[in-house]
Amino acid sequence: MSLSVIVLAAGQGTRMKSDLPKVLHPISGQPMLYYVIEAAKTLSDDITVILFHQAKRIETAVRARFSDVKFKIQDHARYPGTGGAVMNIETMHNKVLVLNGDMPLVTSESLEPLILCDADIVMSVFDLDNPSGYGRVVIENGEVMAIVEEKDCTKEQKKIKTVNAGVYLFKKEVLDRYLPLLSNDNAQAEYYLTDIVKMAREDGLHIKPVWVDETSFKGVNSRYDLANAEELMQDRIKEKWMRNGVTMHLPSTIYIDSRAVFEGDCTLDNGVTIHGEAIITHSHIRSHTVVEDADIKNSTCGPMARIRPGSIIEDSHIGNFVEVKKSHLKRVKAGHLSYLGDATIDEGTNIGAGTITCNYDGIGKHKTFIGKNVFIGSDTQLVAPVKIEDDVIIAAGSTVTEDIQKGSLAISRTPQKIVENFFYKYFSKKSVK
Ligand code: UD1
Ligand code: MG
Repeated sequence: MSLSVIVLAAGQGTRMKSDLPKVLHPISGQPMLYYVIEAAKTLSDDITVILFHQAKRIETAVRARFSDVKFKIQDHARYPGTGGAVMNIETMHNKVLVLNGDMPLVTSESLEPLILCDADIVMSVFDLDNPSGYGRVVIENGEVMAIVEEKDCTKEQKKIKTVNAGVYLFKKEVLDRYLPLLSNDNAQAEYYLTDIVKMAREDGLHIKPVWVDETSFKGVNSRYDLANAEELMQDRIKEKWMRNGVTMHLPSTIYIDSRAVFEGDCTLDNGVTIHGEAIITHSHIRSHTVVEDADIKNSTCGPMARIRPGSIIEDSHIGNFVEVKKSHLKRVKAGHLSYLGDATIDEGTNIGAGTITCNYDGIGKHKTFIGKNVFIGSDTQLVAPVKIEDDVIIAAGSTVTEDIQKGSLAISRTPQKIVENFFYKYFSKKSVK
């Protein structure tokens, strides 16, 4: 790949009003900067992220996911602005694509038209009825003449509807030649990358505008923009999975993490939430169920179930108000109102309503093992660590504190006592008729 990529992420992100750096705000489960780097990686083996504000924090977050990205700290005190951000970067290739770290919807496909265009500078533009806030692009005979920032626009220029989307493809020599010539003589006293265009044009270089799809190049500047971007990201994620065989009822009420994976024939009912790196295979997730980092195969879950991280659920039925955490269930029925945590439950076992694994003693977490064909009566507490062998029956209302051997019945409740006619005696004393 003969293309270097520079990702601008040094800005302060003031409008987010947040301690978290703007580019680390998550969208559909991942920091927005991850999406930009992901797109860049399909195009280039030479990616440099430009940092300044909270540089260390952003670098740590990027390194946690991408091992082969370079970082450069902008000399922001002396050279603020998008032009300052690109100064003194060593790039491997002769073409340099400049992306913004706050454009999470950008994809390698949406960048393709820019990359395929041959000119000294290729720049992304789109037309807006309300262009306010963007740099206006002056185009004559198919060539860009200048980009004028909103704050520097004349009244006439403000009317221009073609705006700078903020992504550029430069020939490296163009950057080398014009970056040292930039000045900060403008309304924001910043070094504008966009000023290169005017200088290059005056020297007769070719600057081509490429109209891009506005959605993919949307910048996130506020939490309102963040919410809009997430909405668009959700549409994309859902469209992708629907095209891959996932049925969704009322998809606008469903939330799916960008890292989730579906295989085979799956159905998601309304209100389902899938967080993290869930893998769902051939399963039906019913209304208002929340799944997080779990592996669900050939099963039905919900409505209103919660399947938490580390759970593996195979060939099972999980019903309403059942919470499963870090447990492996294989051909199990847990139809109602249960907590199954740190448990392994084997084939043919039925978990009665209200069964609770008491996995935490206030100090540590303990495991529960339940074998094959176990019938657990309703309202049973299994105090872990505990092992229930195969073919066991546990009577309803039992508190199990000791292991149970294969084939046994366990019952731990006070025997029922009958006092005949007690009702009439009790109330006749009290009732004043
Ligand atoms: C910029 C463009 C404008 C375009 C708009 C599109 C300039 C001068 N203007 O304006 O023409 O319409 O993008 O969204 O380029 N950054 C740094 N270092 C800095 C300043 C910014 O790395 O010193 C980074 C920011 O983190 C951000 C990107 O550059 O990722 C864009 O900066 P921003 O201040 O948002 O530029 P705009 O004013 O929106
Ligand atoms: Mg700005």
